[in-house]
Amino acid sequence: MTKVTIQVFDSVEALQTAAARQLAHALGPSTAGRDVRVALSGGSTPRRMHELLAEAPGIDWSRVHVYFGDERSVPPDDPDSNYRMARETLLDRTGIPEPNVYRMRGEIDPVDAAQEYQAELERTFGVKPPEFPRFDAIVLGLGTDGHTASLFPGTDALHERRRWVVANHVPQLGTKRITLTYPVLNNAALVMFLAAGTNKRDALRGVFGPADQERPPAAHVQPSGKVVWLLDADAGAALSADAVYEQSTQS
Ligand code: 6PG
Repeated sequence: MTKVTIQVFDSVEALQTAAARQLAHALGPSTAGRDVRVALSGGSTPRRMHELLAEAPGIDWSRVHVYFGDERSVPPDDPDSNYRMARETLLDRTGIPEPNVYRMRGEIDPVDAAQEYQAELERTFGVKPPEFPRFDAIVLGLGTDGHTASLFPGTDALHERRRWVVANHVPQLGTKRITLTYPVLNNAALVMFLAAGTNKRDALRGVFGPADQERPPAAHVQPSGKVVWLLDADAGAALSADAVYEQSTQS
């Protein structure tokens, strides 16, 4: 059973501050000096969390290995690149060694990029299929349609149970994305979802709604470790008035 915690903050800034503190703990003091592996998210909500994380004390960045949960089909210097966002808001502000950063190559064919990334994961985690890599922490967002990483409603990647990384055709965006798959997300020790804004309420109601209804992609992230949902008050208003939502996450 997945251990789910929902935290609602007064503002998006408070959410980002708490997220940075919790991620800093996962990457620093809780690790007892061993190497730690984290997968970052794209989107706008993590940006400020990254900036705060870069300033957090107690993280030995030479021990941190940074991966990505998904990537768009763009070069690394493109404004839409998740890698570029992470580089500008976090990586360039830390002393992280270059070899500790593993990006998905959005500039090549996404099928090739996904295969290449899986091989990179196999090499750096030292595990092979049918096992799955176990991230210490994975940061995820929530789209207004309930997508997370690049697992969009109705797309093929939702059905992937074997491969760790796939190219996912997203007809609603008219593009392909590269994304980690459910078995990898669900093998993580910690998943942190960040969601802010009134436009996330419907997606949240879907995620925490009755299990017998069709749920959006983010609802199927149920890792063997724990999940923390960090919401601002605008998003959290979807849940707080109705305890049924919270109960259904525990089952
Ligand atoms: C991306 C994502 C995506 C994102 C959500 C939420 O590459 O865009 O990884 O899943 O997390 O769309 O994005 P916001 O934080 O901007 O709401």
